[in-house]
Amino acid sequence: MDMFRIEGPVRLTGAVTVNSSKNAALPIMAAAVLSPGKSVLKGAPRLSDISVFSQLLSDIGCKVTTQADGNITIDSTTISEPVGEYDILRKMRAGICILGPLLVRCGKARVSMPGGCAIGYRPVDIHLRGLRDLGAQIHLENGYIVADATRGLRGNEIFLGGPYGSTVLGTANVMMAATLAKGTTVIESAACEPEVTDLANCLNKMGAKITGIGSPRLIIEGVKQLQPFEYEVIPDRIEAGTFMAAAAITRGCLHIQNCRLGDLMAVVDKLRSIGVTVEAENGGCIVACSGRINPTDIITQPYPGFPTDLQAQFMALLALAEGNSIIIEKIFPDRFMHIAELARMAADLRKEGSTVIVSGVKKLIAAPVMASDLRASAALVLAGMAADGTTFIKRVYHIDRGYERIEERLNPVGAKITRENDSTV
Ligand code: EPZ
Repeated sequence: MDMFRIEGPVRLTGAVTVNSSKNAALPIMAAAVLSPGKSVLKGAPRLSDISVFSQLLSDIGCKVTTQADGNITIDSTTISEPVGEYDILRKMRAGICILGPLLVRCGKARVSMPGGCAIGYRPVDIHLRGLRDLGAQIHLENGYIVADATRGLRGNEIFLGGPYGSTVLGTANVMMAATLAKGTTVIESAACEPEVTDLANCLNKMGAKITGIGSPRLIIEGVKQLQPFEYEVIPDRIEAGTFMAAAAITRGCLHIQNCRLGDLMAVVDKLRSIGVTVEAENGGCIVACSGRINPTDIITQPYPGFPTDLQAQFMALLALAEGNSIIIEKIFPDRFMHIAELARMAADLRKEGSTVIVSGVKKLIAAPVMASDLRASAALVLAGMAADGTTFIKRVYHIDRGYERIEERLNPVGAKITRENDSTV
């Protein structure tokens, strides 16, 4: 098992390029199941989650090949077994978005309920409610969702809102199933995340009829069949936001290339409010911070609000602000595994329910810490680059799920990160 050795403090300067989006690529890989034939996902990020999803597609009968240039070809001519195994779903919850495509393509599906998650309890009840509203018969059996739609799915008016607002993968699942349902479906309280918009654009390229894209009200006119896609997914806004926070926490200056500022308005607004400059530049932006970091309040919300996937990284950044900040996690109320680890690095954090008071300290101090989930581990890398001394981060496989070889991307701009074998495990 790998671990990171990080020397700090460093100052990041130079250019770094953002990869394609993991969270856009995964549901688009599932969309390949909707149409028999060869689909091509261009420029897919090289991440363990992408490999696991490729395995899921192979298990159901697709032929999946990854080319040297990162393009992934998914031949879904044959679906032999419409089953999503527990062994895959327990590793990667996003596998759940194979359910809708399998159901509408094969008339039935058997997909494991996703397992537990470090960021909190994540039910899929809204996914199932939406698919039932399209006419699917669904029951649970031995931890598996067993869904039947042998008589086909029927368009309907569906409210997809939940206790924390919209659901990203729930919208993806129901939207994909509705593309081949009889009649028209209206999804109210649909998620508006750029990744959902990217999926809808890809589906329309395959011949679907979706309108209202990017709004909470999607209208999907069912069609008889779809064509395979050749599609390039959007840049990863969460990776871009992570690099922005890295520039700020190291008082550096980064030219972040292949980054769509329009997908990050809430994040840019927060950065500017704490004294970080963000200037659009050449299909990307320049993020710089030389002096004081001001405190602020952050409330995570569905898009276009502040993304929960940047909450941990901004907590690390605000740990060095001059004053008290308040962070309220409204999407995953228990998403705080990084607090204890940041506190080991001398951050001053007080948690009350899903609210954390971050009292800025003069400096962070290096320590051995443990990664627990993807974004928490990104926050520890940021803290390690700003801290005095040598930080060791264990279980970096968490970070490989969503950041491609992050040390090879940050070391050229001034980081000192070494990947080592963790002999203690
Ligand atoms: C997606 O997860 C992302 N994952 C997550 O990113 C991201 O944190 C999340 O959206 C929110 O933006 C992928 O795209 C692969 P939700 P998803 O359904 O779709 C509740 C990362 O770091 N809910 O929008 O699973 C749920 O518990 C990952 O890359 C229900 O109650 O999230 C949560 O509180 C982590 N019932 C809220 O809704 C349901 O049926 C939003 O979850 C579904 C969701």
